[in-house]
Amino acid sequence: MILVTGGAGYIGSHTCLELLASGYEVVVLDNLSNSCVESLQRVKKIVNGKVSFIKGDIRDKVSLRRIFSQYSITAVIHFAGFKAVGESVEQPLRYYDNNVGGTLCLLGVMAEYGCKQLVFSSSATVYGDPSSVPIRENFPVSATNPYGRTKLMVENILRDLAASDSQWSIALLRYFNPVGAHESGLIGEDPNGIPNNLMPYITQVAVGKHDSLCVFGGDYPTFDGTGVRDYIHIVDLAKGHLKALAALELETGVLTINLGTGRGYSVLEVIAAFEKVSGCKIPYRFVERRQGDVAQCYADPSYAKLVLGWQAEYGIERMCQDAWRWQICNPEGYKSA
Ligand code: NAD
Ligand code: WQD
Repeated sequence: MILVTGGAGYIGSHTCLELLASGYEVVVLDNLSNSCVESLQRVKKIVNGKVSFIKGDIRDKVSLRRIFSQYSITAVIHFAGFKAVGESVEQPLRYYDNNVGGTLCLLGVMAEYGCKQLVFSSSATVYGDPSSVPIRENFPVSATNPYGRTKLMVENILRDLAASDSQWSIALLRYFNPVGAHESGLIGEDPNGIPNNLMPYITQVAVGKHDSLCVFGGDYPTFDGTGVRDYIHIVDLAKGHLKALAALELETGVLTINLGTGRGYSVLEVIAAFEKVSGCKIPYRFVERRQGDVAQCYADPSYAKLVLGWQAEYGIERMCQDAWRWQICNPEGYKSA
């Protein structure tokens, strides 16, 4: 049985789907602070499977112990946490408490029950402003905001833990920019309020929720002046977690792995790809650069291919197509149900 913390969220729900489709048994622990159980209802519908769901908080050791006592958990995929960069600057203590404190709490209970296999959601944000691209796993790390610092802190905690006890197998997965949705259009990204991220903002412009997109900076040292990122289809990303789980079975220690496609797209290229597949015009205007943004960020994904046998399959048009299908089928996200 795999415990998926934060499994009702965007990446968690898609990963639960892939786990079930591959025959894993899954129990989700989620406090629903940024999600709803409808996502998991739909996962069950898509795969015609069963997910055990427990509403609870990773910072609550009593709930965690109850789960580990009740189920025979062999590994944990740990998604639970807060992820909004701007919010982390305004509310750092909430971020450290949930992302770092919550992880410590989870690790303590895992150790108590002798469950020592963990997949952790890290982020390309740990590379800060990279001195060159594509980014390899051995590039220097740094953080430019509290959210990024929580990811770096947890990575370090996990390395110390594995160094102290050779039974631990840990995968630190550094995600680049997850976008898109499952092809069914039943599950996808359901941001609260106005989206911070590019793809959900574009799809909301396309359904008429916003008049136009603000392009944050047109003067970056990139080929068209706009920021370049490594967008990765959420289903590819989810599949990477299954490959990581399989790798943890084979070897102890810490694996640090980029999950990206290796191809960067500029903001204008993403807009063009979306317009092509949706047939919708996305009005946009250039505004100031967003504080903390870097010019280019894309992965060298060769290590993931080497050690996990994983590589992304879907390209940018498919990402846009699936993001668009999810948006038109669910204009209000899961609240549309
Ligand atoms: P999400 O907000 O959709 O999912 C996180 C889930 O965790 C939500 O369902 C939320 O309710 C739950 N949660 C939060 N705090 C909890 C707690 N204390 N106890 C139990 N449940 C809790 O976010 P996501 O995009 O699916 O991200 C999942 C993970 O991946 C996060 O750790 C995030 O930092 C990391 N990540 C995300 C991205 C991205 O762009 N989406 C990129 C890199 C890394
Ligand atoms: C992509 C590009 C923007 C919105 C963030 C987090 C990162 C990780 C993934 C969690 C950039 C531009 C965006 C808009 C725009 N999350 N943009 N107008 O910033 O690469 O990464 O999500 O770990 O930590 O920082 O993603 O989608 O916000 O931006 O022009 O309205 O789109 O400037 O070039 P980002 P994003």
